[in-house]
Order: sequence, then C-alpha cells, then structure tokens
Amino acid sequence: MKRISATLLWCCLTSHVLPVLAQDQITVATRTLAASCAACHGPEGNSLGGTPTLAALNQDYFIQRMQGFKDGSVSATVMHQHAKGLTTEEITALASYFAQQPRKTAVAAPQQSFKGAQ
Ligand code: HEC
Repeated sequence: MKRISATLLWCCLTSHVLPVLAQDQITVATRTLAASCAACHGPEGNSLGGTPTLAALNQDYFIQRMQGFKDGSVSATVMHQHAKGLTTEEITALASYFAQQPRKTAVAAPQQSFKGAQ
C-alpha cells in the first residue's frame, strides 16, 4: 500500500510539476543553438539590423513560423536552410528561450509582424 501511494505521489508530482520546470529550464544545448542565430538576429535575439527581432516573440508564432520555414510554406531567403536542420523539440525549446529574452531594441525591422508578439 505504501508503495502504491508513493508511486501515485510520484506520478502526480511528475505530471504536474515537471512540465512547468521543463518549460522554464534553458539547457546548454538550447543556448548553443540560440547562439548560432545571434549572427543574424542579434544577441539574445535582439536584432541590430534589418533581421527580425526574436526576443520576447510569442512562442506559438515562433513555432508556426519555424515550421513554415521548415516545410517551405512560408517564403524566406535564408530561414529555410536554418529551420530544416532543427527538430520539432529544438524549435519548441528555442521558442521558449527567445520568449524569455527581454526585448531591448527600440526599432524593429519594418517587415516584422508584431501581431503574435507578447
Ligand atoms: C544568416 C542569417 C540568419 C541566421 C543565422 C538565422 N536567421 Fe532567422 N531570419 C533571418 C532572416 C533574413 C529572416 C527573414 C525571413 C527570411 O528572409 O529568411 C529570419 C526570420 C526568422 C524568424 C521569423 C521572425 C518573424 O518575425 O517572422 C524566426 C522565428 C527566425 N528567423 C528564427 C531563427 C532561429 C531560431 C535561428 C537559429 C537557429 C535563426 N533564425 C538563424 C536570418 C537568419
């Protein structure tokens, strides 16, 4: 009986607590991937030029755009190549990472849509 309650407790804890932790946790692998985006999208996703800012971008919007680049349904110049190399899990992790970065740039690229921005 004790064993059953312990198992039940473990299940309850892991099913409710872990997804929340996982969402906020940024792994070294995600930081490394995000660093490869910085060359164009700026430090922590704050663009310094005409490339869209990724910092504080809505996660659903980010995922939608990346999946679109990946399957070719969203037109792009360079992003098809970058998105094709990423798994769905990596895109989700990057969406969470960039959503957590504070937006520092005052001026955004004119072509960027802010409809999905948080
Ligand atoms: C070589 C430069 C370059 C690199 C590196 C790059 N991007 Fe991009 N990114 C762009 C450009 C340019 C666009 C605009 C769409 C296009 O023309 O491809 C864009 C668009 C995007 C968008 C859509 C933004 C919006 O507001 O619609 C997302 C999301 C994005 N990039 C994520 C990433 C991620 C994540 C990485 C790293 C894994 C990355 N990019 C690496 C140049 C780059």
